[in-house]
Amino acid sequence: MVEIVWQKWFELGNFRIDSEHRVFLDLVMGLNRDFKAGLTPEKQARSLREILKYAEFHFLSEENMMIDIGYPDRQIHTEEHRKLLATLEASIRRLNAGEDILDEFLTFLYEWFCEHTVGVDYRLAQFIAARPG
Ligand SMILES: [Fe+2]
Repeated sequence: MVEIVWQKWFELGNFRIDSEHRVFLDLVMGLNRDFKAGLTPEKQARSLREILKYAEFHFLSEENMMIDIGYPDRQIHTEEHRKLLATLEASIRRLNAGEDILDEFLTFLYEWFCEHTVGVDYRLAQFIAARPG
């Protein structure tokens, strides 16, 4: 199990994106804490649903931003979101069916978040920051 913590280098300098990333990671860290302390299947299912809904919301926020500013790499970025949501939904179905994969799920989610944030999200934040006005 990797240590799931907020890293300084997650800050992209865009208030909206950074704020949403903090909430998202806070949800993941909360589930990780509960997992270590022991949680019921019912609590686990509720937390997973919240994470999925927040991911959907956050991705939509970024996708709307990309449309509004005519972002050139919108398709590639949106595709990464779409793939993650598909993986999330599949993993959550397995977890809700009682499969013992929460540990690997949390590690996967954190690693995905790290890569996505310093990759496509970083480029989006740079593009926004470089816009005139
Ligand atoms: Fe993104």
